[in-house]
Amino acid sequence: MKSISLFLIGLLLVSCKPSKKEIYMNPKIVIAHRGASGYLPEHTLEAKAMAHAMNADFIEQDLVLSKDDIPIVIHDIYLDDVTDVATKFSTRKREDNRFYVIDFTFDELKTLQVTERFNPKTGEQFYPNRFPKGKGSFKLHSFQEEIELIQGLNLSTGKNIGIYPEIKEPAFHQKEGKNLTKIVLKVLADYGYKTKKDKCILQCFDAKELEKIRKELKSDLFLVQLIEFPEETKQLAHFATYADGIGPWYRQILSEKTDNKFTFTSLVSDAHKLGLKVHPYTFRADALNEFSNFNEMMQTLLIDANVDGAFSDFPDLVVNFLKDKK
Ligand code: G3P
Ligand code: CA
Repeated sequence: MKSISLFLIGLLLVSCKPSKKEIYMNPKIVIAHRGASGYLPEHTLEAKAMAHAMNADFIEQDLVLSKDDIPIVIHDIYLDDVTDVATKFSTRKREDNRFYVIDFTFDELKTLQVTERFNPKTGEQFYPNRFPKGKGSFKLHSFQEEIELIQGLNLSTGKNIGIYPEIKEPAFHQKEGKNLTKIVLKVLADYGYKTKKDKCILQCFDAKELEKIRKELKSDLFLVQLIEFPEETKQLAHFATYADGIGPWYRQILSEKTDNKFTFTSLVSDAHKLGLKVHPYTFRADALNEFSNFNEMMQTLLIDANVDGAFSDFPDLVVNFLKDKK
């Protein structure tokens, strides 16, 4: 009798134990896309602090190397659509008229003013109703500075908000003689992010690089394969050999809209069958496209299509939406 009871208790403990992939994650996670970038210039420390206060589950960092190998938190390999580099260093552009992060030292990058995203050809602000371009005083920063901000805020607030770094254009870095992945993995390890339990999700559009991170570099981090083009979704089974999730453009999930109702592609269910989480990008309350309002976008993708998370410029709206659904 005693052994049967022990067996039943053991069975209960095993069945209650969350899988390794789900140890720390809410059923649906909110990823602050470039921070609370709907409210403050993207990828500034101010936008990250705001996202933290809004209780996003994860805060995103896009990463590019400086000339002196410091990982900088910035969306592109270029500087001229979010900073005043063209005014401060007018002679430092390349033949294509672009200014590259990789051509500047960390000290030089720190002299630049960061501003709301704009078109470098026309000077026009990308999202006209967001933080006014050219106002305020914002700076670029390193990956280490951002991790210290988030870990510091986690300590002072008692929260455990994660990081969601993206290795940007590894092939470009390689052509420039740099190994972005190696540097990022070292920073992550230095700050305690080594396994799936460490509240870090590493993402990359470059499938070869992400596969290498798992299979050659033996990383045990939670890996998300970003997907840009619809044809890449055919490689789902292969992605599942090294990744824990996918990050598709949200339109790859939508099929048609008839009588104001959306139908869906098989992407989410196919991914779920393979054990992959699905975190689509990008939920923007001021760029709705086929949706009549932001609530419809959240309901359609998060609930009806049953994705596992959302990259959003407006993390507060998604956090509130999900709170109401509990
Ligand atoms: O990384 C996922 C999401 O950020 C979409 O990509 O182009 O904004 O870095 P991107
Ligand atoms: Ca990104």
